[in-house]
Amino acid sequence: MNKSQKKIFQTKADLVKATVEIIAKTIHEADKNNRTCAIALSGGSTPKDVYNALAKKQEINWQAVRLYWGDERMVPPDHADSNYRMTKEALLDHVAIPKENIFRIKGELSPEEAARNYEEILAQSFNSSPPVFDLVLLGLGDDGHTASLFPSTEILNETQRSAAEVFVPKFDAWRVSLTYPVLNHAKQILFLVAGKSKAEVVKQILENPKPQMHLPASVVSPVGGMLIWFLDSSAAAMLVS
Ligand code: 6PG
Repeated sequence: MNKSQKKIFQTKADLVKATVEIIAKTIHEADKNNRTCAIALSGGSTPKDVYNALAKKQEINWQAVRLYWGDERMVPPDHADSNYRMTKEALLDHVAIPKENIFRIKGELSPEEAARNYEEILAQSFNSSPPVFDLVLLGLGDDGHTASLFPSTEILNETQRSAAEVFVPKFDAWRVSLTYPVLNHAKQILFLVAGKSKAEVVKQILENPKPQMHLPASVVSPVGGMLIWFLDSSAAAMLVS
């Protein structure tokens, strides 16, 4: 059984601050035990604020961090839509993280090649299969998607691969995403959800204890890990408790 926790913050800024604290603590714990800390980052607007704040946080030993991404769009790394580019500008350009500790999804390749390449990267850089992340940051779409696990897509049925290509009909575009087997082996999953457009889906997910396949985020449930939902008051507005 995973342990789960939900925390509601008055403002998005409070949520961002608390997220930076969790990330810093997770890195510190790993560093104390002479390990590197593996973190999967998310795209999206709330994470961007987190990365900006994290870049200013003192006392993080970036040598002790390995960074990955939960999903990527099929664009080159300098494209405006690239999750890697967003992270680079907000965080990577401002901290002393060794280049060899950055493991991006190569959006410039074909979807199949990019997914295979990312699977190989994961297999080589983790000594476990599936890879066990110390922390996975996830967003939530108002349709219930998370990472690039969108409703009614093939990737939701993936049980073997650590990453896969996924065609997303609503954007008429391919993406590459981590799969459930990996997400569900993480030590900590942290959902970052802000804004009133998310209130309805937050209610549907958090007030129903069962996984619902039409809301892919509700199927994320780490075996033995910790599941944390950070909401701002707008995203939590429709919750009864
Ligand atoms: C992406 C994300 C995606 C995102 C959600 C929520 O690259 O699009 O990984 O899953 O986290 O769509 O995005 P917001 O936080 O911007 O609402």
